Amino acid sequence: MQQSQLKSPDPWGRTFRMEERTLASAAMRLEARGRHPFFAHVLDEYASRLDLSGTEAILDLGCGTGLAARAFARRPEVKGPITAIDVSPHLVEAGRRAAAGEGVGGRIDFRVGDAHRLDLPEGSFDVVVMHTLISHVADPTTVLAEARRLLRPGSGRLVVFDGDHSSLTFATDAPDGGEVTDRILQRTGVAHPRVMRAMPRLLAQARLVLLWSRGYVVADTGRADFFSPGIASLRVLLPKAGAMSEAKAAAFAERLERASAENSFFGASNFYTYVAVRGD
Ligand SMILES: C[S@@+](CC[C@H](N)C(=O)[O-])C[C@H]1O[C@@H](n2cnc3c(N)ncnc32)[C@H](O)[C@@H]1O
Repeated sequence: MQQSQLKSPDPWGRTFRMEERTLASAAMRLEARGRHPFFAHVLDEYASRLDLSGTEAILDLGCGTGLAARAFARRPEVKGPITAIDVSPHLVEAGRRAAAGEGVGGRIDFRVGDAHRLDLPEGSFDVVVMHTLISHVADPTTVLAEARRLLRPGSGRLVVFDGDHSSLTFATDAPDGGEVTDRILQRTGVAHPRVMRAMPRLLAQARLVLLWSRGYVVADTGRADFFSPGIASLRVLLPKAGAMSEAKAAAFAERLERASAENSFFGASNFYTYVAVRGD
C-alpha cells in the first residue's frame, strides 16, 4: 500500500501531486493553524506527557511544514535528533525554510517519504508523532504498523493527534442549517473521518499499548477564530477535491465569513490525542 493508492478526494492526502498554488495555500493554512493557542496547547500537553530525558530520537511523521518538529526542537529538554518526513517535497522544503528562519534548521533532518513504508531501519526512534496525519493516509493500519516497526522495542512511544472529523460542523443560514455542507466537508476534507474513534481498537490491533489519551472540543461561537484560516482555504481545497465548483466553494466560504463578521458564527469539532507504547 502506498499514498498514491488513496481513493478519497481528501486534498491533504494528495499533496505529493498538487500544483504549487494549492500547496502554497496549504502551507499557509498549516502555519496559521499551528500558531493557534489550541494547537500550541495540545502539542505542549503531549510533549510534557512523554517525560523526555533529553536524548530521545523523535520522528515527526506527516510533518507538513514541520510544526511539531519545530516545537520539539524549541523545547529545552529535547536534545536528541529530530527527523521530519512528509510525502510532499514542496511542504518538506517549506518546513526546512521555516526551521532555518526560526534558528532550529540544524536540529531537524527534513526528508521526503511515504508513511506506509519508510526507508529507515527498524527501531530507529524513541518517539513517533503523527500530528493530524492519520486521517489523510491511504491505509491507517499499514501506517500504524510502520510506526510500530520504527519505534524502539520496549520503550518507543507513538503519539497520534487528529480531529474526529465526523463531528466537524459549521452551522449556516441555509434551510437545512448546514447539514448538507457538513456532510460534504466530512466526506471530502479527510479520507478517514471516523479513524480517531477507531484508534483504541487500531492501536491494539497494531500491538501498541494505549498509555494515555485526551479528548478536546474546539468550538468557535460568534466569531470564527480557530476555524478562520480553514474557512479561507475552502475556496481552494473544496474545488480541488471535486466537492464543489469554485463559485459554490467561494459562496460557502463567504457565507461563513459573513456569519463571523456578524458575530453569529458556529463551528465545532472534536479532537483526540493518543499516546501508546510499542512494548516488545
Ligand atoms: C493536515 S496536514 C498536517 C501537517 C502537519 N503535521 C501539521 O499538523 O501542521 C497532513 C500532512 O500529511 C502529509 N501526508 C499525507 N499522506 C502522507 C503519507 N502517506 N506519508 C507522509 N506524509 C503524508 C501531507 O502531505 C500533509 O503535510
